[in-house]
Amino acid sequence: MIVWGISGNSHDAAIAVFQHGELVFASHSERYSGIKNDRNLCRDLVMAAKRYGNPDKVYWYERPFLKTLRQWYAGQGWKRRDNDIEIYMARYEINASVEYVDHHLSHAAGGYFTSNFEEACIVVVDAIGEWDTATIWEAKGDKLKKKWSLRYPHSIGLFYSAMTQRVGLKPNEDEYILMGMAAYGDKTKLTFDISHDFIDNYGNLKFIRNCHRGVQDWRPDLAVKDSFEIAAGVQDVYEDYFTHLLIKAKKLVNSNNLVLMGGCALNCLANRHTGDYFENTWIMPNPGDAGSAVGAVLAKHPEWKINNFNPYLGYDMGYRTPNEEIVNYLENNKICGVARGRAEFGPRALGNRSLLADPRGENIKEKVNEIKQRQQFRPFAPAILEELVDEYFIMPRGWSDSRYMQVVANLRNPELYPAIVHRDGSSRVQTVPKDGSLFRQLLEMWYARTGCPMLLNTSLNIKGQPMVNDHADAKNFERHYGVKVFN
Ligand SMILES: [Fe+2]
Repeated sequence: MIVWGISGNSHDAAIAVFQHGELVFASHSERYSGIKNDRNLCRDLVMAAKRYGNPDKVYWYERPFLKTLRQWYAGQGWKRRDNDIEIYMARYEINASVEYVDHHLSHAAGGYFTSNFEEACIVVVDAIGEWDTATIWEAKGDKLKKKWSLRYPHSIGLFYSAMTQRVGLKPNEDEYILMGMAAYGDKTKLTFDISHDFIDNYGNLKFIRNCHRGVQDWRPDLAVKDSFEIAAGVQDVYEDYFTHLLIKAKKLVNSNNLVLMGGCALNCLANRHTGDYFENTWIMPNPGDAGSAVGAVLAKHPEWKINNFNPYLGYDMGYRTPNEEIVNYLENNKICGVARGRAEFGPRALGNRSLLADPRGENIKEKVNEIKQRQQFRPFAPAILEELVDEYFIMPRGWSDSRYMQVVANLRNPELYPAIVHRDGSSRVQTVPKDGSLFRQLLEMWYARTGCPMLLNTSLNIKGQPMVNDHADAKNFERHYGVKVFN
């Protein structure tokens, strides 16, 4: 039996394929269409999924009718036809019966049934589902029970996106840039004002104003030069709010295990705080809506629970180059790309579609920034052998590993690795486990050769485009930047 989960018609569309109860493929539309965060499915992705056979059943990650009602309530018009998923699927020649799953249930199930927990407290935080914007769930065995929810228009995710737009960035896409800017601002300047103007009460987690239509009118006295102060204030308010949400979750559900999901689970600065309330934290490597392609299926088939989740679920490029050749090249040239094996399902390059560099030395960050053409203030992430992470980083409480770059940690000797440390001394660290993967072996060889257990790891993509997916994309990258990409 072939079962698909689909998220689409909103932003960052994705398909997950389960074959006889096993997750065999999952990928984002953007990787096939070349359109970053592509909101729609594309034929090449559908064709790639159909290589496992036509679906017998499709689970859609949210309830379109409830979404239509909410859009109408929000003044966006009556979008019944836009949200007709059967018409939508017919456009891509997907012929299977479709069943709808609550948006936040898809998130919650995607997180819990990919964790190794047998009971947990689940917290979902995003911009908006049908109506829910934050939910808390109790999970025991294969049962999930919603204990609390916050509904539109109250939404910390909408607030963060609106503020992203307020500083001139793209909402629903550039939130991570706002987060990176926060380290350059003084949070004592605007945190109080932002909190006063937006948050009604940290106790009930409600908002004073609806941020759905943007907050461009907020504080016209603040100029572009104040953007870093705004970012610092927004991040500080977010972390306060998030902490209150964790406290509420802890009160409602008696568990030491936290499953955190929703687009806000990508806020790796705020994620440092989960260990203050829960002993263990699990965030699925793809906690946003695209990951709900997996979650929608698991919500209906908890018996297909996945232990030791593997995020390498996309297009398989295989590999040709021995690691030794890549390490030799890196030693001499300091920077190269790798595009090999199956593509990551999720927003982070975890070693299969990565631009790698020696993290030591002064000018590496500038060199990589020249290639990536991004703001100079933004840091790059390190990938480190998992067993050595405590020697190099002070990991936040409750985070013994960070395999999917989900939390920041402070570097013990930041002066030695300027390319991978942020202004505030933190790094978004990727701990690479002993899983025998090609990337792990490459890092081991690099360590044996250089004595440095880390490599700078950033996603392999041309500016403004999604990550490299296949051989043609890798060649394009090589031609565009003149940087060697190994397969
Ligand atoms: Fe969501």
